Amino acid sequence: MDIPVEVARAVSPRGEVVLQSRPAADPTRAPSLELRVNGVFVMDTVETTSERLLAQAALEVVDTPGRVLVGGLGLGFTAREVLADPRVERLDVVEIEPALVAWMGDGTVPHGPALLADPRLAVVEADVAVALAEAPDASYDLVLLDVDNGPDNLVLDINAPLYAAPALSDVRRTLAPGGVVVVWSATRSPALEDALRSVFGDAEARAVAAPGHGRVGDYWLHLAHR
Ligand SMILES: C[S@@+](CC[C@H](N)C(=O)[O-])C[C@H]1O[C@@H](n2cnc3c(N)ncnc32)[C@H](O)[C@@H]1O
Repeated sequence: MDIPVEVARAVSPRGEVVLQSRPAADPTRAPSLELRVNGVFVMDTVETTSERLLAQAALEVVDTPGRVLVGGLGLGFTAREVLADPRVERLDVVEIEPALVAWMGDGTVPHGPALLADPRLAVVEADVAVALAEAPDASYDLVLLDVDNGPDNLVLDINAPLYAAPALSDVRRTLAPGGVVVVWSATRSPALEDALRSVFGDAEARAVAAPGHGRVGDYWLHLAHR
């Protein structure tokens, strides 16, 4: 039976962060990992298409994505996709849960240490909204935001302002001319599209097929160009 086993647990000011493993259907394969925050499914290592497409969608529309910011380390699939691009010179990943950074670094997440060893990567333990507010003007070519399940499916209420115009204005300010922001969302968000349009002048919503996870429908990437 597919019974999850708790691998690690931490409590932070935002609540409970839990890593669980599940045996693979094929016994020759490694167990999968699942991340839950306050009991809510955040992601797993089985179906990571949309986490990777978040990076690919941005990397393919910018000629020189030298400096990249990713909001939300999670289990590192977006970061790994960014670092797979040799044009990327620096990647700042901003993660609010120190325990998750520790589990990636100490091998609790088996692929974590190799990812964190990339010399182009800096992991910053902070709220990405604060990191963006404090970042210098034009410091990034790409900003990729995947800190929650999207504005209409929040795991953490503190993330609501990130999807609204004032925080998106910080994103625009930190982007170099020609830079791109992509925001991951579990469902299409007309309010986020409106907020992006009000700040960037235009915005695009792309559906990403979401096989697995026992859900019907697509995930969504919301893009805007500076
Ligand atoms: C869906 S996961 C990110 C998945 C990631 N794209 C990947 O490929 O594994 C969301 C992550 O954002 C973090 N997070 C939530 N709110 C945050 C915030 N305000 N600032 C920075 N990180 C945040 C969570 O702790 C979690 O690690």
